[in-house]
Amino acid sequence: MASDTPVDAVVLVGGKGTRLRPLTLSAPKPMLPTAGVPFLTHLLARIKAAGITHVVLGTSFKAEVFEEYFGDGSDLGLEIEYVTETEPLGTGGGIRNVLPKLRADNVIVFNGDVLGGMDLRDVLASHTEHEADVTLHLVRVGDPRAFGCVTTDGDGRVADFLEKTQDPPTDQINAGCYVFKREIIEKIPAGRPVSVEREVFPSLLADGRRVFGFVDNSYWRDMGTPEDFVHGSADLVRGVAQSPALDGQRGESLVHPGAGIAPGAVLIGGTVVGRGAEVGAGARLDGAILFDGAVVEAGATVERSIVGFGARIGPRALVRDAVIGDGADIGARCELLRGARVWPGVALPDGGVRFSTDV
Ligand code: GDD
Ligand code: MG
Repeated sequence: MASDTPVDAVVLVGGKGTRLRPLTLSAPKPMLPTAGVPFLTHLLARIKAAGITHVVLGTSFKAEVFEEYFGDGSDLGLEIEYVTETEPLGTGGGIRNVLPKLRADNVIVFNGDVLGGMDLRDVLASHTEHEADVTLHLVRVGDPRAFGCVTTDGDGRVADFLEKTQDPPTDQINAGCYVFKREIIEKIPAGRPVSVEREVFPSLLADGRRVFGFVDNSYWRDMGTPEDFVHGSADLVRGVAQSPALDGQRGESLVHPGAGIAPGAVLIGGTVVGRGAEVGAGARLDGAILFDGAVVEAGATVERSIVGFGARIGPRALVRDAVIGDGADIGARCELLRGARVWPGVALPDGGVRFSTDV
């Protein structure tokens, strides 16, 4: 459909990104640096690669940041427009709110935090073949409880949509990409918060509308938690996940211009070192993400963790499965383990936080 019939793309980017705090206190989740570019760039490049050029961003939280960076989209070969909710309208309300900007009969809608490899032309073709009102991209996951659970019948027609249920009837989940007939969007109530998952999909099913699932098994990850963000970023660096926004070169690490790596530092596991960041002698970075200007001092270890803009990890400190906010200062020999989150600008003295007694 994309190449012959025009399709609009809508990306929902208005969420607060609470599970990625404190990084999302200063930047909205889709703008966090991911393998060298704001995360949203990867999705926009996939949209462009499918031959779609008109993109509307549904913004709310930190709305201005998107337009400041992407402008009219021409650098990416796109035409990007922005529609801002002064009060968040939820996922369904966000889709309804961009209606005045839509031009085509069919609209492909995305959650703005999904790293995926599905060829968008495939879901569009499936939508056309089924003459569907709505087509949902579905994937299978190990633990469906954090997602929208979607059951389908033998023809791929959606039977049930259960958002975040503790008792999932299937491992098939909503992958956060939908094709809508525009007339379905016109029927979403305007001017109030609406959840597409809890309200729009269940009511379309109750009304017997043609809602189909398109299942595929390409790469897929929701980047909404620190674990997933770290994992997805490493997958991009190592080439496990593909992005048309990155050139072909892949390896154990990605070091950006202006970064300084001292001799004897070890960078593995899909580590990313941002612009102007510094890594000291003998430091070990395994699946680490250093935002621009971050510093890891000599002998420190950073594993599967994100180190915010300009933050510093002191000599021989250990940071594992943690999130360090922008400008935080972690003293020498501190240990920050599983799930630790340090707020921006917080300074921990040398040896100030330990999980063991030997120094
Ligand atoms: N414009 C706008 N307004 N966007 C919003 C709003 C809002 O009020 N609330 C959330 N969003 C955006 C977020 O920025 C994100 O890109 C997307 O909508 C989904 O929100 P998340 O907060 O990431 O939802 P989730 O991950 O818990 O669940 C959703 O995604 C799963 C797949 O990743 C649901 O759609 C699930 O059904 C789905 O399985
Ligand atoms: Mg999400």
